[in-house]
Amino acid sequence: MRYAIITGASRGLGEAIAKRMLQEQIAVVSVSRTENEEIRKLAVEKGLFYQHYSCNLSLEKEVQEVFMEIAHCIYQKNPHEIYLFNNAGVIEPIETVGNLDQTPIIRNIQVNLIAPILITNIFLKKGGQTGTTVHAINITSGAAVRSIEGWSVYCSAKAGLNMFTQTAALEQAEMKTNNKIIAYSPGIMDTKMQETIRSSSKEAFKELEKFLDYKEENKLLKAEVVANALIDLVLNGSAESGKVYHVSDLIK
Ligand SMILES: NC(=O)c1ccc[n+]([C@@H]2O[C@H](COP(=O)([O-])OP(=O)(O)OC[C@H]3O[C@@H](n4cnc5c(N)ncnc54)[C@H](OP(=O)(O)O)[C@@H]3O)[C@@H](O)[C@H]2O)c1
Repeated sequence: MRYAIITGASRGLGEAIAKRMLQEQIAVVSVSRTENEEIRKLAVEKGLFYQHYSCNLSLEKEVQEVFMEIAHCIYQKNPHEIYLFNNAGVIEPIETVGNLDQTPIIRNIQVNLIAPILITNIFLKKGGQTGTTVHAINITSGAAVRSIEGWSVYCSAKAGLNMFTQTAALEQAEMKTNNKIIAYSPGIMDTKMQETIRSSSKEAFKELEKFLDYKEENKLLKAEVVANALIDLVLNGSAESGKVYHVSDLIK
C-alpha cells in the first residue's frame, strides 16, 4: 500500500493534493489544526485508509509527538512507498523589518521551515530501518529566490527550505537510498493565503497593488491545476531528487 502524509490538507493546495492522491488509490493522512470533511467523505467513498491528526505545526513538541505517532502507525503497515508533502505554510508577518512582532516571526519559521525539517527527519530515520521508499515534497515559493519587501521572514523560511531540500537530497544520493526529496514552487494560487496577502497594507507590502491586480485580472492559478501537475511528476517517477521545480516547468 502507498501512503501520503499531507500537512495543511484542510484547504488550498493541500486539500487538492489530498483529493488527487485518493483518486490515485493512495491512502491519506492529513495533518492540520482543522479537518476537511470532504476529504474524509471521499476516502470513505473510495474505501481507502484515511486519518486526520490535529496538530499545530508551530509547536515543536506537538510536531514531534504527532509525527512519531504517525510514523509508528504507518510503518507498522509495511508501506511500499510514502509520499510526504510538507505543504502547510503561513505568509504572516507581512511587515517591514524594524516593525515586526516577535511571536509571528517565530511562528512563521516554525511552520514553514522547522516543522518540515523535523518531519522529514522522522520519516527518513524510520524509512532507513525498513525497505520503504520515502518521497518528500517540500512546498516552497518563488519568494525563496526573490526578495519581496514586507515578506522578509517568509522569503527567509522558504529559502531555507530550498537549501534543506538540496542538502538532504545530496545525503540520500551519497547513501544510495531510493528516497527522493524535491521542492515545488506552486506559483500564485487562488487560496486563503492570497486573501491574507491582499488584506495587508501598502505601507507593509510594497507590491500590494500588483497582487490585487492578479486577482482582478483572473491571473491566479487554481490549486487543483497546481496539485495535478505536481502529482503527475511525483507518480510518473521522473522527479529528480534535489531539484526545485516550479509549476511553470510543468504546465506550459
Ligand atoms: N497561495 C499562493 O499563492 C502560494 C504561492 C507560493 C507558495 N505557496 C505555498 O503553498 C503552500 C500551501 O499554501 P496555500 O496557498 O494552500 O495556503 P492556505 O490556503 O492558507 O492553507 C494553508 C494550510 O496550512 C495549514 N496551516 C497553517 N498554519 C498551520 C499550523 N500552525 N499548524 C498546522 N497547519 C497549519 C492550514 O491548516 P489549518 O489552518 O487547518 O491548521 C492550511 O491547511 C504553502 O506552503 C505556501 O507557502 C502558496
